[in-house]
Parts: sequence; C-alpha cells; structure tokens
Amino acid sequence: MKILVLVSGNGSNLQALIDAERRNALGSGRITAVISDKADAFALKRAVRAGIPAFVEAPDPSLPKAERRLDLSNRILRRARDMDADLIVYAGFLSILSGDLINVFAGRMINIHPSLLPKFGGEGMFGNRVHAAALAAGETESGCTVHFVDAGTDTGPVVLQRRVPILPGDTPSTLADRIHKEEHIAIVEAVAKIGSV
Ligand code: GRF
Repeated sequence: MKILVLVSGNGSNLQALIDAERRNALGSGRITAVISDKADAFALKRAVRAGIPAFVEAPDPSLPKAERRLDLSNRILRRARDMDADLIVYAGFLSILSGDLINVFAGRMINIHPSLLPKFGGEGMFGNRVHAAALAAGETESGCTVHFVDAGTDTGPVVLQRRVPILPGDTPSTLADRIHKEEHIAIVEAVAKIGSV
C-alpha cells in the first residue's frame, strides 16, 4: 500500500508514521512521498531525513479562493496518480481540498483532527482554536479522530477515535499536548487498520 502523506507544519504525525513503518507497524503501508503546502514546513526535513521524496505544492495566492483550492487539489491528484498512491493521509495538513481528488480517492484518503468529531470540527477549526472551543464548552473529555475525507470539512466517516480527559486548570496548550500524544498512536493505528484490509 503506497502512502502519500500531506503536511503543513511540524510533522510529528508524519514522524510517528515514519517510525511505525520502520518497526513494521503500518501493515502493508509504505510512505512513498510527502507533499507540503508550505515551503518552510519542518515536516519536509523529516521526510528528507528519512529518505522519502518530498515536494512542495503551495496554494497560488493570485487565484480566488475556490479556484485556488481546486488548483492545489488537482496538482496533488496529479502527483498521487504519478506515484500510484493507494492511500492519502492528511497528517497536520491545513489546506482544504476539493474537486476530482475527493471522488477519485473516496475511501482512500484520511485526516486526523484533534477533537472528538463531530464536535469542534469544520472550516477554521484548527490548532488551539479547537481546544479553546472544547474548554469553553465545558467538556470533560476531548481527543482525536481519524476519519475518511469527503467533500465536507471534518465530516467523513470515522475510522477511529482516542479520548483524553480534560483536567482542572487545562489551557488550550496543555490539552493540545495531551491530545497530540494520542494522535501519534491514532494515525498509526488507522493506517495499519486500512493496510490490513
Ligand atoms: C495536529 O494537531 C493535527 O491533528 C492537526 O494539526 C496538528 C499537526 O501536528 N490537524 P504535526 O504537524 O503532525 O506535529
């Protein structure tokens, strides 16, 4: 199972996948390429260090929003087809994709989100905003969700979730750290689950 991983930032979820592949914990999964939508993402360095081909596909700021999304999606679709990808993993990938890619990779594209979806998902819900919203809502637990990507944002069928307690005195950052550790387990389990089918 050839895996294309999409990233935007630090790439600790990508690192969890790289480490899991090394210890043979990804089922039949092999990470065969990484694409970042940001040229300065540290995740790119992690890919290069692991010997994985890494590419930048940045959104074109000269295009209006819908066209910009479609243009980026089509470039990613082209690369996915070129490498004959079986699975696309959004691992801390912040762009929203659209168009043919969503149909061509339906059921073969997953995202990790740092909340117990359907709570605290949707456009604009990323980073500490998610955790601030969970705290403001008075939740007693949160967690992370791996789900299939569909045409909505954070709406596709759930692959798996991992839960953490919300503790007295939590801030968005302390909660984010607790959830991040679970993400690293969840993303590996989800890929292994899909790779074993
Ligand atoms: C994670 O919290 C992920 O759920 C979210 O972005 C963050 C990425 O972290 N979508 P990293 O780049 O994998 O370290």
